[in-house]
Amino acid sequence: MARITERASWPALQEHGREWEGVRLRDLFEADPDRFRRHHRTFADALLVDWSKQPVTDRTLDHLLTLAREADVPGAIRRLLDGERVNVTEDRPALHTALRAAPGTSIEVDGEDVVPEVMATRRRMAEMAAAIHSGEWTGATGRPIRHVVNIGIGGSDLGPAMVCRALADQAKPGIRVHFLSNIDGRHLEAVLAEVEPAETLFIVASKSFGTQETLTNARSARTWLLEQLSGSDATEVVRRHFVAVSANTAAATEFGIDAENVLAFRDWVGGRYSLWSAIGLPIVLYLGAEAFEDLLAGARAMDEHFGSAELAENLPVILGLIGVWNNDILGQETHAILPYDEALGLLPAYLQQGDMESNGKRVTLEGVPVDYPTGMVVWGGSGTNGQHAFFQLLHQGTRIVPADFIAVAEPPHDHPEHHRVLLSHFFAQTRALMRGKDADEARAELQEKGLDAERVEALVPHQVLEGNRPSTTLLLRRHDPWNLGALVALYEHRIYVESVLWGTNAFDQWGVEFGKQTASRVLPHLEAGAAPGLFDTSTEGLMERALRWQEAD
Ligand code: F6P
Repeated sequence: MARITERASWPALQEHGREWEGVRLRDLFEADPDRFRRHHRTFADALLVDWSKQPVTDRTLDHLLTLAREADVPGAIRRLLDGERVNVTEDRPALHTALRAAPGTSIEVDGEDVVPEVMATRRRMAEMAAAIHSGEWTGATGRPIRHVVNIGIGGSDLGPAMVCRALADQAKPGIRVHFLSNIDGRHLEAVLAEVEPAETLFIVASKSFGTQETLTNARSARTWLLEQLSGSDATEVVRRHFVAVSANTAAATEFGIDAENVLAFRDWVGGRYSLWSAIGLPIVLYLGAEAFEDLLAGARAMDEHFGSAELAENLPVILGLIGVWNNDILGQETHAILPYDEALGLLPAYLQQGDMESNGKRVTLEGVPVDYPTGMVVWGGSGTNGQHAFFQLLHQGTRIVPADFIAVAEPPHDHPEHHRVLLSHFFAQTRALMRGKDADEARAELQEKGLDAERVEALVPHQVLEGNRPSTTLLLRRHDPWNLGALVALYEHRIYVESVLWGTNAFDQWGVEFGKQTASRVLPHLEAGAAPGLFDTSTEGLMERALRWQEAD
């Protein structure tokens, strides 16, 4: 896999990048009334994707599509969807798409059709949900389950947490869901303070079943529950209040979870792509099996689009190409995710892991260091709050931040006026970022306020907005599992397309281990006292100071 800079089409792309110097998006709109029509598509009458406020023309897309063909993006899409071992460093497929397969289809991994197992897990989750919703599954004291606590971190937390928050208005009555992820004891305390012990089911979610935070939280939760339900048989308490989800089922049973309460998924599902697997159990328990099936169906529809649409009509491909264009040609290093929807408040955090853990890579699949930027810094926050926080920089800062604006057209609540105001800002902000306000417009506005000429000239430079701030608008028709599934799958595939163009592996995350290894060397010295000479003076000094303050406490 060549480095992107070695592609034959790269010099022409760079040259085209230079031609963008001084081009104003607002002029492109004024010169071409057809711009929006050509640079947006509506997917399944459910999701409109508009990239017309991105710094691209048909020629730009032609250059980018040439690059995509040269990088064999169609082949890469095929290899992903067919279950080939695209995750070369872990020698595995990345088959999160198989998790949302339709009943009756077949997808083979090493000659084994994996769909029956996927379906069996979905049925098992639905059965668990039915037993809990009907009250058949009770706690050790006979009380119905009213609280579900998912104990997991990263991909074993962010996905289900994001979906449950996004669709909370469609939750099953009588069930509350909680997410415990941080090792900070206050997170444990805060979650346990929210739940009724006898009515709580804990899900210990961990692909590896080796993550320190998750296992420590699970042990503490188990100790707490056994104390709270000390009148009940301990084995029965664990059997009725603890289930596990993992690709390492042996470790889950060794931890003490009943084998019948362990739901499995395969190691060819990446953590950050796992919400569609048994890791989605909190979603099924909170929203119901039907909602989960709709979520899968929306994602499956996007998979089918990804697998069949021509490159020039393929939404994940187009967004991936624009991502590389902004990042590697125009030099924009961050990417803002701005959901104008309170319920989608966890989407930026979810995509931070999805994108940065996938594309934060410095070598190609062959281990060759890259000489170009790869994964962007992904950040974000909900609209309109962001407007009163960081939008100043988006409009007048020296950094250009490509941003995704995401909203829902149909109001998901009974406050139509609020929704109109929300959407007015949503539509206005991408226009204001694109158009900006030049000196003449600023001057005219100041003059209209009746300021004297000297004051006007003094303020004009402060009021100018350069504009040309790129954005993609993703407008969902309505707030439902299907639409959300399609949206998330769009991002998953966009992230993959970028990795194909960069020649990097989107499915491993070796870089996360060293920090953890270092923590396991530090920990004993926080228990038994610092041992000089083992670490650098800063680390030792900090540890020593913390230990002394703790002792003095
Ligand atoms: O440390 C990063 C990571 O491995 C993520 O990739 C993963 O989603 C998370 O930790 C949790 O891992 P697990 O599901 O194995 O507990």
